Amino acid sequence: MRIVLGVGGGIAAYKVASLLRLFTEAGHDVTVIPTEAATRFVGVATWEALSGHPVSNSVFDEVHTVNHVRLGHEAELIVVAPATADLLARAAAGQANDLLSNTLLMAGSCPVLMAPAMHTEMWQHPATRANVETLRSRGVTVLEPASGRLTGSDSGPGRLPEPEAIFDAALALAGALALPETAAMPASEAELSAPPRPLAGLTVTISAGGTREPLDPVRFLGNRSSGKQGVALAAAARDAGAKVRLLAAHMDVPPPAGVDVVKVETALELRKAALHAAADSDVIIMAAAVADFRPADVSGTKIKKRDDLADPVISLVRNPDILRELVEVRDAASRKQLIVGFAAETGDADGDVLDYAAAKLRRKACDLLVVNHVGQDKVFGEDTNSVVILSRSGSEAQEASGSKSDVAAAVIDRVSAELSRVVPPA
Ligand code: CTP
Repeated sequence: MRIVLGVGGGIAAYKVASLLRLFTEAGHDVTVIPTEAATRFVGVATWEALSGHPVSNSVFDEVHTVNHVRLGHEAELIVVAPATADLLARAAAGQANDLLSNTLLMAGSCPVLMAPAMHTEMWQHPATRANVETLRSRGVTVLEPASGRLTGSDSGPGRLPEPEAIFDAALALAGALALPETAAMPASEAELSAPPRPLAGLTVTISAGGTREPLDPVRFLGNRSSGKQGVALAAAARDAGAKVRLLAAHMDVPPPAGVDVVKVETALELRKAALHAAADSDVIIMAAAVADFRPADVSGTKIKKRDDLADPVISLVRNPDILRELVEVRDAASRKQLIVGFAAETGDADGDVLDYAAAKLRRKACDLLVVNHVGQDKVFGEDTNSVVILSRSGSEAQEASGSKSDVAAAVIDRVSAELSRVVPPA
């Protein structure tokens, strides 16, 4: 595969030499385009020696080959690492002031993956957030940076993901997009031994974690969801070839590499993100634990205890049922979309877990409902899970248990099976 590896001007540029090595050792043909600033961290000679190609960052070198047009046209995959705040801003604005930004503008339908690295403040700045959103809305995969020690004494989100994680995410992205075009070609031995990618070419949106409903600037109503099951689902959908968007409420675990992450805090934020994402999703999986209620009033200042006042009473109002709304919007638009709900249930004297789950499936009208039996120390935060998958179409209920990755793989298999049942392969 012809890969363009753009290198931004950050200290993490040195780690990209290992990424380049991974690509070339896997047999890919890599042209490196560092920015001017990147060459202050790692010199042109290093990139030339490791890639076996001449390296430049100027549109005025090799003008006779029309380099600034050719490289973007010929690339089958573009990876930018480290994607600095400046590089993200230039890409989002569509600037063409060096060879790398020209190449990004010429990329056409070629998949683009950007792996950011910068200080936490820069990553969290509204300007950078807006640039990342813009790039993601145009189909660029912007990885979440890793958390940990940064260049100075500070630490937090902003570290370049490890070269192996970028490598995996880049190849998954290229594979997902390349598969439909090559589907008609006879399968090579390598393709026959490659894992199946039943969701290639599809967009899957997954919500994960627990929403937090603010009471005042320091307190919130939350729940015990760790996000582990949603994260495992996102990784399984990515491995099945899908373009994955993770709507991440509060999670105890980091998102997997190679998925687009949209962070949300409250049920209302999740609703907005989910309805927005639904417009281009083939599959939606609502694995998040959404608060059914939120405080009716959010105090702008910390609620104080005062001896001269009665203890506060918190009144709650209902949050919208996002899953139900997604189904209604889909049906109103006659959209072809598979919607999966999760249900955390306990049995009681009036009915067992499956009775309640079947009633919930009818109420929510989603296509599949993945039912967890919740007990005192079951499910939340655990690494294992045991579920029953119910289908509205009446196809048989299915049990799955094991690690959360095993359960995720079973759910994604069932999603693929339902999709091929609804739309039989041509
Ligand atoms: N859900 C949602 N919006 C809500 C509450 C839940 O979209 N306001 C989704 C969850 O993401 C999950 C499914 O609905 O996929 C079921 O969640 P659960 O909490 O089990 O169901 P509830 O509708 O809250 O029903 P109850 O708490 O009454 O059992």
